[in-house]
Amino acid sequence: MSEMQKEFYITTAIDYVNGSPHLGHAYEKIVADIIARAHRSLGESVFFLTGLDEHGQKVQQAATERGMSPQVYCDELATQWQSFVERLNISNDDFVRTTQPRHQEVVKALLTKLHGQGDIYKAPYRGWYSARQETFLTDKDRLPDGTWDSAYGEVTELVEENWYFRMGRHQEWLAQYLENHPEFVHPEYRRNEVLGFLRSETLEDLCISRPASRLSWGIPIPFAPDYVNYVWFDALVNYLSVPASKGDPATASISGLTRTTTAIWPPDLQVIGKDILKFHAVYWPIMLRAAGLSLPRQILVHGFWQKDGQKMSKSTGNVVDPVAIVEEWGVDAFRYYVVRELDVGPDGNWTDEGFRQRYAAELANGLGNLVNRSLSMLRKYRSGRIEVVSKELAIDAENSVRGVEQCLRENRLQAGLAAVWTLVNRANLYVEQTKPFSLAKDPAQAGRLDEVLYNLAESCRVLAVVLWPFIPDTAERIYAQLRVSGEPSRWRNSAWGGLQVGHETGDPVPLFPRKDLPLKS
Ligand code: ME8
Ligand code: MG
Repeated sequence: MSEMQKEFYITTAIDYVNGSPHLGHAYEKIVADIIARAHRSLGESVFFLTGLDEHGQKVQQAATERGMSPQVYCDELATQWQSFVERLNISNDDFVRTTQPRHQEVVKALLTKLHGQGDIYKAPYRGWYSARQETFLTDKDRLPDGTWDSAYGEVTELVEENWYFRMGRHQEWLAQYLENHPEFVHPEYRRNEVLGFLRSETLEDLCISRPASRLSWGIPIPFAPDYVNYVWFDALVNYLSVPASKGDPATASISGLTRTTTAIWPPDLQVIGKDILKFHAVYWPIMLRAAGLSLPRQILVHGFWQKDGQKMSKSTGNVVDPVAIVEEWGVDAFRYYVVRELDVGPDGNWTDEGFRQRYAAELANGLGNLVNRSLSMLRKYRSGRIEVVSKELAIDAENSVRGVEQCLRENRLQAGLAAVWTLVNRANLYVEQTKPFSLAKDPAQAGRLDEVLYNLAESCRVLAVVLWPFIPDTAERIYAQLRVSGEPSRWRNSAWGGLQVGHETGDPVPLFPRKDLPLKS
């Protein structure tokens, strides 16, 4: 029996089902999707998971207000979220919902195991509770004037018996782990934030239950059915429950299942936003360690988007609606902009003007124009036929390809696109320098024109391959217009010299139509 090779396992955070899909959600999925596609293109098998976080107070309240059962309410919203993911052309292999039985079973099995080991105990708790954030607050969470941030909503004092996970005892281990594994949290300034916290504050045990009398919309605790599991504990387990329910042998100690055909665990890369760093870089590794499971290799933390320099907020109407942008400009224009504009790490700022400028300069006039004129000239002067093979731009193409690959392997997506554009710009410059339209007027230059047309068409083909992880539709359209068989989705096809003598390319169709109208808001 042959050992199955472990798949590259990549995840996003699971979105709150009752929020509406916004730019931040879209961005995170696109970042993860580009990385997932890059790994596939480079020849790895990939398991890419995204999904929804469906339990908790807010969902229960919203469903009640609508006179619906929480499950029906979640099912309706989940349909919208899934179509959102499809609109963004996300290549996820599975979609997890925390209300799915497969997830609930794993949460229960994990709780049972931790309880059996003595890692979970019951104790009274008194504290300040934010129903909106579903979390107890401490005095450290107060504003300088002693009040609570309005983001917490109404804050009330509660006393109740609850179940606790022995988290505090792992504090020293985790700090040491982060010291020894500098790659565990990326970028480094986020790792330093976690280390700073671990070095300066006492890690408390984690309250992991809520009385079912107060909150029924959750996963019942198997050894205490009058309690449900705290949402964050439940939500984090999504990353584990999918491989476990598929019978991944690396998770058999929890699921009791083993299928030698599944090897996913542990995650190679977990993409999250900066606001949920502590949950992923502190709670989550400790939960896994206590359960005896191996840890994710890296948590990749992205920044937050604003619009026009302000926090996005539905109540003020200051939002970017990804679906409206995709409908008006195409999915690839949106995917391109968010990744070209913002490196994975810092905060970003969406402006409609910035979007339109990049669209016009980089997509329409840059890439789109290159493909359009290369194919038009080949069509016009040679009926689309490749007459000769040439290597004039081969070195430029190889340098660009190597640069992009390096960036993709390091998850430096913005720099990756910049490296793609070195070839776009080089090829556009080549048109200006070689002037194929002049060559075409001189019969003595026919051989030179053949070479120039080859270099342009072949550059377009190579560009399709390196662009595929970022903007797969466009890559496929370039391949279709070139009428090349084979896939732009295989990195090895980026090698120079794919187009052969006698090959006939098709008619160009504009990839990024020029738009002179202002962006609809
Ligand atoms: O936090 N810019 O869900 P969520 C960039 N269910 N990213 C943003 C953003 C913005 N303006 N706003 C949110 C949750 N995000 C939990 C996660 S995971 C086990 C449970 C990111 O819908 C945010 O950082 O509030 C997070 O990574 C993701 O969107 C989902 O946020
Ligand atoms: Mg949030």
